[in-house]
Amino acid sequence: MPLKQLTKRAIGALGYEISRRVKSKIVGGKHYAPVRPFATYSPWLDNSDFASVYDRIKTNTLVDKFRCYELWELVGQLGHLPGNFLEVGVWRGGTGALICHRANCLPSKPTVYLCDTFKGVCKATDKDLSYSGGEHADTSEQDVRELLAGLGCENFKILTGIFPDDHLEAVSKETFSFVHIDVDVYQSAKDVLNFAWPRMPVGALVVFDDFGFDTCNGIAILVGEYQRDSDKLVIHNLNGHAILVKTA
Ligand SMILES: C[S@@+](CC[C@H](N)C(=O)[O-])C[C@H]1O[C@@H](n2cnc3c(N)ncnc32)[C@H](O)[C@@H]1O
Repeated sequence: MPLKQLTKRAIGALGYEISRRVKSKIVGGKHYAPVRPFATYSPWLDNSDFASVYDRIKTNTLVDKFRCYELWELVGQLGHLPGNFLEVGVWRGGTGALICHRANCLPSKPTVYLCDTFKGVCKATDKDLSYSGGEHADTSEQDVRELLAGLGCENFKILTGIFPDDHLEAVSKETFSFVHIDVDVYQSAKDVLNFAWPRMPVGALVVFDDFGFDTCNGIAILVGEYQRDSDKLVIHNLNGHAILVKTA
């Protein structure tokens, strides 16, 4: 057994674990450092429905279990609100499939719009220090359809192209009670929110997936701009999500 593995095992046997130290850094004027909360309540470990869906989608997502669980829980609480669901930034369909599966269990049976260019990230600007455009193009609409079919989901519509620019007609009359924005860059995320917000009822939620990550620094800039708006409650979840609640 290689020395590294042996050392890890020996330290593990003593009840400790070693992990690589992530350095803190300043990106775009904002401080990023490892976040390690002390809380231990872990309801995802008792939730067999979540566990079995997460197991099916985990190889099709870049999103960790904690954020996936939060999506699962939030979606599950939105049955009382009118409106459909929207995800922009689908990639290989992992979080989209999780949302579809959970939405299907709601009495309101919302349709989930799943939107992606399937050609990678677009609208990167000089605000986005780690993106230039075209990242995450290693997917296809077919990959997403196969994942959804495997989970037995039929409550979705896939919109291929830049959102909202290419889909104004298809969704202009829609209302949304839940919007998941996972597009990595400032301008793309802003355009999605500007489109969706007037179409959302009071109490509806927006989740920005990328808020807490230094590679997606443009999203922290954007969410910061919403912090003083009187119609928004902004929640910074330490798992990396930012959540907006529509309050007026
Ligand atoms: C990080 S990936 C999404 C990850 C996915 N939610 C998961 O479960 O891992 C970001 C995706 O956003 C898409 N994207 C970015 N801006 C977009 C836009 N304005 N319209 C449609 N798709 C967009 C990219 O093509 C890319 O697939």
